[in-house]
Amino acid sequence: MNGATADALVFFGATGDLAYKKIFPALQGLVRRGHLDAPVIGVAMSGWNLEQLKGRARESLEIHGGGVDPAAGEKLLRLLRYVDGDYNDPGTFKALRGELGASKRPAYYLAIPPSMFEVVVAHLGSIDEAGGGRVIVEKPFGRDLASARHLNAILHRHFSESSIFRIDHYIGKEPVINLLFFRFANAYIEPVWNRQYVESVQITMAESFGVQGRGRFYEEAGTIRDVVQNHLLQVIANLAMEPPIGVDSESLRDEKVKVVKAIRPLDPASVVRGQFRGYRDEAGVAPGSTVETFAAMKLEIHSWRWKGVPFHIRAGKCLPVTATEVVVELKSPPLIADGVPPRNHFRFLFNPGVAIALGTQFKDPGEAMQGRQVELLAGSETGKGMMDAYERLLGDSLRGDSTLFARADEVEAAWRVVDPLLAAATPVHEYAPGTWGPPEADALAPPGGWRVPKTSV
Ligand code: BG6
Repeated sequence: MNGATADALVFFGATGDLAYKKIFPALQGLVRRGHLDAPVIGVAMSGWNLEQLKGRARESLEIHGGGVDPAAGEKLLRLLRYVDGDYNDPGTFKALRGELGASKRPAYYLAIPPSMFEVVVAHLGSIDEAGGGRVIVEKPFGRDLASARHLNAILHRHFSESSIFRIDHYIGKEPVINLLFFRFANAYIEPVWNRQYVESVQITMAESFGVQGRGRFYEEAGTIRDVVQNHLLQVIANLAMEPPIGVDSESLRDEKVKVVKAIRPLDPASVVRGQFRGYRDEAGVAPGSTVETFAAMKLEIHSWRWKGVPFHIRAGKCLPVTATEVVVELKSPPLIADGVPPRNHFRFLFNPGVAIALGTQFKDPGEAMQGRQVELLAGSETGKGMMDAYERLLGDSLRGDSTLFARADEVEAAWRVVDPLLAAATPVHEYAPGTWGPPEADALAPPGGWRVPKTSV
């Protein structure tokens, strides 16, 4: 824990899309669990009033939050306040200070474009004289190493690192946390979790949909910036980290950052970029755009544990299914009979649902020493008792627990890994929507080929 519970939540961008789709539902969840009892002050420059914000919150809960909970939803609406104004205007922040009243430990959530961070943070510095505030920021956290460093410097002008909560919603997902739990709560994993036993690791993050009207955003991002630099490197950090020396947030984050630092900046030759046919016709997309909607790559972690084990990654839009899966393939044991060498694997399904499966050889009944691979599986469907990532992360940041947030050094280390890819003008190969990306990506597949992820638990 890095401090006491925040006594107010201020969220900038209150009338925006993120607030509508994610934040109001998460706040209702927090109130329901008894984790939020402080004023919630929305700030935006929309010319709205409090009643309009409440109307928007109601609609958000109806559509994205499973309905307005008669107790928690209504209470959230009572906790809501609203400040309307331009982020460049000191008057907006004076009004905000007025709404904050006696609050000494506000949490400022910046659900706004990073281009607005500098001005908002400077104003916050001027109203947060006692220095009790904390700041919660959203991805994208920069667009390369230089801009991420710049953003960190801006935040550090007014907030200490322990008061900065960088949200990567993937780290707050139940299956990603389960991966960590699985690794360190099971004694039989550790002896095989290294280069002696692991042949390869492959991660597929497939989405069957396109850019869903976010063409303008996507033109600035592309798959590598959108999901590889953050979500997938975070998954790799959880998968590959050393056991932390303690359960405190810094011990865990120290180990994660070491993994990312042990990945060398990627060689553009070890990456294949693709773009689905039709992307250039999307609103907000340049007719000759070379932004990737698919990326496949191979990387290595240069650590004592992982040296020599290839990590194969692919992610993309308009692929055949929506599923995220990690498969850790073990080396074959010596053959005891003719035939295909048996294999074992660990499979982690992150989406849809959450599942962990152990690929195991099982003898067929009969005379022959022959068997087949079966999976021992534990899992649950999405929704059953699972906490939404935003609810978890907002709750943690209000309580001051940094464990599941990206630290400055980790964010910068992750940008250092992908930076060479962003600068290089590598070809972008077209692929047909509904296929597994361009055929060129096969050259980066593990020896047995890319696995098609399962789409159910
Ligand atoms: C977001 C990306 O960060 O993560 C999106 O901007 C992507 O492009 C999304 O679709 C995936 O997250 P989830 O939680 O929807 O699987």
